Amino acid sequence: MLRLAVIGAGRIGQVHARTISDHPGAQLVAIADPVPGAAAAVADAFGARAAERVADVYHDDAVDAVVICSPTPCHVDQIIASVAAGKAVLTEKPVDLSVARVDECLAAIAGSEHRVMVGFNRRFDPGVRELKARVDAGEVGELRQVTIVSRDPAAAPAPYLVSSGGIFKDMTIHDFDMARFLLGDIVEVSATGHAFIDDIRGIGDIDTCSVTLSSASGATATILNSRVCAAGYDQRIEVFGPKGALETTNLRSTGVRFSGASGTETAGSYLPFFLERYAAAYSAELDHFITSVEAGTAPSPSVLDGRAALVIAEAAGQSLSSRQMVPLA
Ligand SMILES: NC(=O)c1ccc[n+]([C@@H]2O[C@H](COP(=O)([O-])OP(=O)(O)OC[C@H]3O[C@@H](n4cnc5c(N)ncnc54)[C@H](O)[C@@H]3O)[C@@H](O)[C@H]2O)c1
Repeated sequence: MLRLAVIGAGRIGQVHARTISDHPGAQLVAIADPVPGAAAAVADAFGARAAERVADVYHDDAVDAVVICSPTPCHVDQIIASVAAGKAVLTEKPVDLSVARVDECLAAIAGSEHRVMVGFNRRFDPGVRELKARVDAGEVGELRQVTIVSRDPAAAPAPYLVSSGGIFKDMTIHDFDMARFLLGDIVEVSATGHAFIDDIRGIGDIDTCSVTLSSASGATATILNSRVCAAGYDQRIEVFGPKGALETTNLRSTGVRFSGASGTETAGSYLPFFLERYAAAYSAELDHFITSVEAGTAPSPSVLDGRAALVIAEAAGQSLSSRQMVPLA
């Protein structure tokens, strides 16, 4: 039984608290959040201990591992402190907002990198796993094109967006990791985008983007993101090769399709947002983390995977401002 603490009791902290509580091999020991009352509200619901001092969980012998769900700028300090205290770590994405800071993190945890996993949960989605297995089995032949559509139903709250690091580091980062997961190393990045939403333009960010990545093999990934989508949480991937294509489709509240004189339709809308759409992925991600910690093996994705996705995000930002394709070293 792995004994875990969650750091940060916000949107994703609550998802992980529930996932840990539901896992037969995990025990949720504590939830830490410096905002008065925030940890208690979640801890009470799951029978865990609440802490308003995050440092309390580093020094708690009843905690084997921590799940870091704090705002992104806090991650690196909390990874370093947790590893120094002997805890295994599952940290939310992105590792940080700067590649230089991730390098400082890697230097600080040198020798213990295998104790840290990064929460690119979409790699664990059952549809993605099946698609990847079928690609690896050669069903579509050599990959030539990957298309990733990822649109949120509505923009996150303004205070979150301000500290998020912008669309590429906060949102598209999932898709950069997915492109690497499917295509391997990325060598060129080209990005365009626009702010259609006044509040997002007001914080100097964009809400809609198209990014093209070229891989070392010559295959490309095209990523389409929007912070808003009238149809709901739109999550689709298509891979294409000489022998055909495979695609993951949106999950809905029902798979039953109505057919009548007026037409044919599936009544259910897309599942509302990440907690519903990726519930199985968060569970499989936790399962992999627990298995790795207990076996003493390195979990994947690693901090180096987190770094590689952030390198692409920084290049996308450069491409957007320079209107040039950016080669990666
Ligand atoms: N993998 C995913 O699907 C996914 C989804 C959402 C968010 N995220 C990531 O999770 C992180 C948190 O996002 P969120 O949407 O839950 O944000 P949020 O704003 O809803 O929650 C953040 C929580 O952290 C607390 N907090 C503030 N400072 C802290 C500190 N120093 N130490 C510990 N806790 C602190 C806040 O009080 C708040 O409760 C971000 O890095 C984000 O990129 C990942």
